[in-house]
Amino acid sequence: MTTFWSLYVTVLSLGTIFCLTWLLLATRKGQRADTTDETVGHSFDGIEEYDNPLPKWWFMLFIGTIIFALGYLVLYPGLGNWKGLLPGYDYVDNDKKIAFSNGQSGWTGVHEWEKEMARSDARFGPIFAKFAAMPIEDVAKDPQALKMGGRLFATNCSVCHGSDAKGAYGFPNLTDADWRWGGEPQTIKTTIMGGRHAVMPAWGEVILDQGVRDVSAYVLTQLYGRKLPDDAKADPVAGQKIFAANCVACHGPEGKGTPALGAPNLTHPAAFIYGSSFAQLQQTIRYGRQGQMPAQELLQGNDKVHLLAAYVYSLSHGDKPADAP
Ligand code: HEC
Ligand code: HEC
Repeated sequence: MTTFWSLYVTVLSLGTIFCLTWLLLATRKGQRADTTDETVGHSFDGIEEYDNPLPKWWFMLFIGTIIFALGYLVLYPGLGNWKGLLPGYDYVDNDKKIAFSNGQSGWTGVHEWEKEMARSDARFGPIFAKFAAMPIEDVAKDPQALKMGGRLFATNCSVCHGSDAKGAYGFPNLTDADWRWGGEPQTIKTTIMGGRHAVMPAWGEVILDQGVRDVSAYVLTQLYGRKLPDDAKADPVAGQKIFAANCVACHGPEGKGTPALGAPNLTHPAAFIYGSSFAQLQQTIRYGRQGQMPAQELLQGNDKVHLLAAYVYSLSHGDKPADAP
């Protein structure tokens, strides 16, 4: 902090405390010492105020908070560049002489946090490392690992995939047997580590409006096996030709998808995260879709992602952990 801002903060903080003290003492001075039935004279909707002195306990409490505030500002950093009288810290880890991220020493909230993180790394790091050295299938059977994985999932993944991991509109269900990018343990880990970016091109300008209707009708009736709405004005047979010409490269000749591209299996109900009604299919095909799974490698690191992969794998394999979210 520059000297200017340091002074600014100091003057503002001490000035406020000083003004409050003055206000307290000044208003107390003009007051009577004993209680009375007289009112101060104004009335709000019939509610009036007695002209009594501040209760003693309240006055002492106020004085107490002022003393506390001053004591706090002496002991802890709070007044600009003042570091506080508390001894504070030199290192995150004194044994290993690991410095704080900002290269400074002393007591600060950030330093407190860094020390806490270092303590939890020291405590849990070896446990994460132990699981990271095991195959994902085996980790997925370990109750302790699943408990830890479940917590990581609840914190980092449930916003999108839901606390039960069953997904939502635009976010795939992770508890079923349908995988856009592949369900092998290692593939799941790759998905979580590096993230995924699906690209379904927009076809509206290529196959035009009738083409979109026809191919949507084909997907709905022939691949997915549902009925076409009566007023659809679409021809699944024409749609089949369009599919063969434009879609098989990614979705495969039978529409069963290509995990390497994240192209979903259009014959499986769980594949339609953007909805499978005739209208929703047209929307997807006309304008395209770009689902993004954010990469976790930098956020979580390998060991936590390993646990997460095991947890996700466990959701569709074998018994669920007792306290799965
Ligand atoms: C370049 C590869 C590619 C081509 C070509 C392609 N798709 Fe896709 N398609 C994808 C990918 C990848 C997704 C997943 C998009 C996502 O998850 O956001 C997808 C998603 C879809 C979906 C939505 C599934 C869901 O999750 O709701 C439909 C329907 C679909 N495609 C139909 C078609 C049709 C019909 C064609 C041909 C006109 C076609 N696709 C051509 C790659 C392709
Ligand atoms: C910002 C939202 C978001 C967050 C947070 C998120 N995901 Fe995803 N995830 C997605 C989307 C969207 C997809 C689908 C991408 C696509 O369209 O193919 C996805 C796909 C996946 C898949 C692939 C599913 C399949 O069918 O192949 C896995 C596995 C997965 N996520 C696991 C996780 C885990 C574990 C976490 C927590 C570390 C997580 N995700 C956090 C949005 C998210």
